[in-house]
Amino acid sequence: MDITFLLNGETVELRDVEANTTLLQWLRETRGLTGTKEGCNEGDCGACSVLVTDHDGIKALNACILFLPQLQGKAIRTVEGVSGPDGALHPIQQAMIAHHGSQCGFCTPGFVTSMVAAHHTGRTDWDDQLAGNLCRCTGYAPIIKAAEAASEVAPVDWLDDALPDVSEETGGGDIMRPASSDELAKQYRDHPDATLIAGATDVGLWVTKQLKDLSPVIFLNGCGDLQKIEDTGNELKCGAMVSMVALRNALEPIYPSYAEMLRRFASNQIRQAATLGGNIANGSPIGDNPPALIALGATLHLRRGTARRQMPIEDFFVDYGKQDRKPGEFVEWISIPKQPDRLRVYKLSKRFDQDISAVLGAFYLTVEDGTVKEARIAFGGMAGIPKRAYHVEDVLRGQPWNEETIAKAWPAWSRDFEPMSDMRASADYRLDAARNMLTRYFLENLGAATSVLEVTA
Ligand SMILES: Cc1cc2nc3c(=O)[nH]c(=O)nc-3n(C[C@H](O)[C@H](O)[C@H](O)COP(=O)(O)OP(=O)(O)OC[C@H]3O[C@@H](n4cnc5c(N)ncnc54)[C@H](O)[C@@H]3O)c2cc1C
Ligand code: FES
Ligand code: FES
Repeated sequence: MDITFLLNGETVELRDVEANTTLLQWLRETRGLTGTKEGCNEGDCGACSVLVTDHDGIKALNACILFLPQLQGKAIRTVEGVSGPDGALHPIQQAMIAHHGSQCGFCTPGFVTSMVAAHHTGRTDWDDQLAGNLCRCTGYAPIIKAAEAASEVAPVDWLDDALPDVSEETGGGDIMRPASSDELAKQYRDHPDATLIAGATDVGLWVTKQLKDLSPVIFLNGCGDLQKIEDTGNELKCGAMVSMVALRNALEPIYPSYAEMLRRFASNQIRQAATLGGNIANGSPIGDNPPALIALGATLHLRRGTARRQMPIEDFFVDYGKQDRKPGEFVEWISIPKQPDRLRVYKLSKRFDQDISAVLGAFYLTVEDGTVKEARIAFGGMAGIPKRAYHVEDVLRGQPWNEETIAKAWPAWSRDFEPMSDMRASADYRLDAARNMLTRYFLENLGAATSVLEVTA
């Protein structure tokens, strides 16, 4: 496949790129741009962060799990390209020097690019913006001080790259890049053996860690129509390619607890790349979106060629590693109903940021005149699939909304779930945590403050 993009302000045209080549590999091995570092090679440390500009603006992404065909029509800047045309340092670089923000320097290019992206877009929530960048020696205080100092300085104009004109060709041979969901439907129906690549935050690791050859592949990043969120009044229609950042912004005014959970989904770099469709289609029992979507009663829309079907999202997850998806069928969109906000989503993980859930519980209960009218409860990390707590729901429905009812539901939890013990949590811990989350939901309903973010001395 041939691709065109800007690299540090210059047009690059590459012929016959391979699907499996990462931007990090290409920058370091082919272009000699070794400022971009390889740390973990799996999206966890941020050492490989680069700036990527597309039609949505500038963002920091992890180059280690970004494949070259994903760069078509975009503008990339590495740490070598953030200073001005006359060599003037970027305000972030100046501030890092002034505040001693670097010691061994291995993490510094990644921090600088993440900080530049935030600076350019006016973000100052540094703990969130930098949660995906690890530093082993400087410590974070000088880095945050540098970021804060630089935020007093206006953004620079030299990073506003004009995107290159590229044809909307759809690739060929073993690498396809459809320009719309219609083209995707046709290509995937004709090549059901192809690997779909959306944000590549899961698939990237199949290459960097499992050393898999992915071809044939279909890159979904050209399908602009799948990146949209439409508010129909009754529901949010979210295309499969909606990123976690876009989803969080759309959910903030409707379901703030869901949006807050997404703040803790991986890191900023991953959230910019990861898609809703990928998080559902991978069928992971510990994906963060499915339980929340199940509790909300969301509908999944699948498509194969011109045939479409829909289902309650919980029906998609059949068994561990098995989803109700036919060869050549893909997730096209997800509809999230807009209802009064009774949703609470609780994510438990060993680290606050950038960590996979040990247990994630999502609750949507309707209580009228002190009685539970309706209950939808779903969990991740408690079974081989994201799963609804049907027995617990049954016990709650029609009962007074009080502590006795919650206690009555106690035995039902182990009928719904037989969690496993693994490195994230033991089975007993998971079951207890799930039970306690219902109590937390109850207490929050009474107006009690339960957020661990609000602990005071
Ligand atoms: C460092 C790190 C931290 C992470 N933290 C979290 C976290 O906190 N919570 C969490 O839930 N996940 C986390 N993940 C996992 C990952 O980011 C998510 O699962 C993400 O949503 C996957 O989306 P993607 O677009 O990157 O999918 P991809 O990697 O592109 O694809 C994932 C799978 O879905 C398939 N696929 C993609 N789109 C479609 C479609 N439209 N139709 C059918 N199949 C499709 C692909 O073929 C593949 O099998 C993390 C990953 C990393 C690397
Ligand atoms: S090398 Fe660690 S995130 Fe890319
Ligand atoms: S300066 Fe050494 S890892 Fe950050």
